Amino acid sequence: MLGIHIRETRPQDIPAIQALYPSAFPDEDLLPVVGQVLEGVPGLLSLGAFQRESLIGHVIFTPCASDADADAELSMLPPLAVAPASQRQGVGTALIREGLERMKSGGVTQVFVLGDPGYYGRSGFKPETSIAPPYPLPDEYRDAWQSVSLDAAPLPTSATLTVPAPWRDPALWGP
Ligand SMILES: CC(C)(COP(=O)(O)OP(=O)(O)OC[C@H]1O[C@@H](n2cnc3c(N)ncnc32)[C@H](O)[C@@H]1OP(=O)(O)O)[C@@H](O)C(=O)NCCC(=O)NCCS
Repeated sequence: MLGIHIRETRPQDIPAIQALYPSAFPDEDLLPVVGQVLEGVPGLLSLGAFQRESLIGHVIFTPCASDADADAELSMLPPLAVAPASQRQGVGTALIREGLERMKSGGVTQVFVLGDPGYYGRSGFKPETSIAPPYPLPDEYRDAWQSVSLDAAPLPTSATLTVPAPWRDPALWGP
């Protein structure tokens, strides 16, 4: 992690972000949803990890809501991408940590993720059973739906997470 700094991305970082995702996700095209979120979702947090001035990692925190509590301040983490040559050096963990700190100081109470529990569990995420994802998940994805609580106040149970338009595509929530 020597010489790596994290900051919010700027419009001039977009070409580097567009190059990063295909290298980190060679089998998945996340650029359409990443582009739509970056362009059209108010209040998002887009953080980049930079080595000198090169982008080596990126994460988006998207503001979300609960269908049972209009005042709930929630967020959803994916996607997270680290350039293959920079993986396993703590970059992804540092991006998550920085984002969670900013979410907490911004009043967000819970952050959700659909991802590998073996990885996100290291950053405090636990299986989420009270707040359902926007679309039903296949059985093999159940453990992948997780959240980390940033506040002691529990959310009402039996709620569903509502997400901004770019994430309202069932194909993004299935295998
Ligand atoms: C997953 C990813 C974001 C991790 O970023 P990273 O900077 O390499 O991760 P860190 O250095 O913070 O943590 C690495 C540790 O997590 C572990 N790890 C990485 N991916 C893991 C996974 N899917 N499951 C469990 N552990 C994992 C590594 O084994 C390593 O542990 P070790 O140091 O004890 O060996 C990165 O590998 C990546 O971009 N992968 C491709 C895209 C992807 O899958 N993104 C996540 C889904 S949104």
